[in-house]
Amino acid sequence: MTKRITITKPDDWHLHLRDGDMLKAVAGYTAAYFSRAIIMPNLVPPVVTGEDANAYRQRIMAALPSETGFQPQMTLYLTEDSEPQAVAQAYRDGIVKAVKLYPAGATTNSHNGVRDILQVMPVLEAMAEVGMPLCVHGEVTDADVDIFDREKVFIDKVLDPLRAELPELKIVMEHVTTSDGIDYVKSSKQNLAATLTVHHLIINRNAILVGGIKPHYYCLPVAKRESHRLALRAAAVSGDERFFLGTDSAPHTDANKEMACGCAGCFTALNAMPCLAHVFEEEDRLEALEGFTSQFGADWYKLPRNDDKITLVRHEQPVDYPSSVMTGEGPVTVFDPMFDIYWEVEAQ
Ligand code: NCD
Ligand code: ZN
Repeated sequence: MTKRITITKPDDWHLHLRDGDMLKAVAGYTAAYFSRAIIMPNLVPPVVTGEDANAYRQRIMAALPSETGFQPQMTLYLTEDSEPQAVAQAYRDGIVKAVKLYPAGATTNSHNGVRDILQVMPVLEAMAEVGMPLCVHGEVTDADVDIFDREKVFIDKVLDPLRAELPELKIVMEHVTTSDGIDYVKSSKQNLAATLTVHHLIINRNAILVGGIKPHYYCLPVAKRESHRLALRAAAVSGDERFFLGTDSAPHTDANKEMACGCAGCFTALNAMPCLAHVFEEEDRLEALEGFTSQFGADWYKLPRNDDKITLVRHEQPVDYPSSVMTGEGPVTVFDPMFDIYWEVEAQ
């Protein structure tokens, strides 16, 4: 029997849209299924000022049809030179919704990020004063810390001391990948939330490493062992409003993924909602999908929930999603969840 569920149109609270030809090729997938997205600022050069964010926003809108209802929610890239008052002003003026903290060297285009958190305390204090959220890539980059431990060490060494020092600052731990991250968010009393990606609910580290190296499953933070994936799934379907969707859809061309030093990122914009419906159905928690994709994030960012709806249909036969999309920079592989997808977002 065909099954269908209608939910409030989702938002994506962590998204990479890139720029230029890549932006033109990928923006439409997100705009088709999501009303809003928090747009990550890790361009080259990064989006550091309100003017940068305004200009980037215009490039995003120009990449979409004029009748689109999609509303990009812009962010600033935190550097050790960011100006506290300018950052707070860009928030007050409604140009940006949040600031993104990348520890220098943690991920794609993060070399302008933060080396020493103490250097940016004046910016963080100014943000706390105006209620501006900080989105955090929560991994340390110390060479002597194992890559699978970097999230936990970040919580202990950076995040927890920061929250003790500045409890008023609203923080989103982006793309949490460990049970340590889940437990830490759950133990917090206020001002802490987390995004969860689609792919981290589906793959563990075996996907990357077993049976040959699989660069299209390599992303940062890197997928962890199975017990962590299960903790992420439990949090996603729990109905706890501190956990919401941030796909972290991060397109790179196949040429840049399939090389000796391949880029990190999974491109999920095209099949995120069908994959999530599959996951929530598997957990027997389809009724919790709407909160996770369409309510909790909006509430956290103090934005109204969307009025529009989408309908997800479960077909009798697997849906044939493209395995890659063509961009002006070359083909980009679409995330393969390694299961048949029966769900589809019905055309509006
Ligand atoms: C992201 C990218 O490519 O911009 N990559 C990724 O693996 N998630 C950066 C990031 O969010 O870490
Ligand atoms: Zn990201």
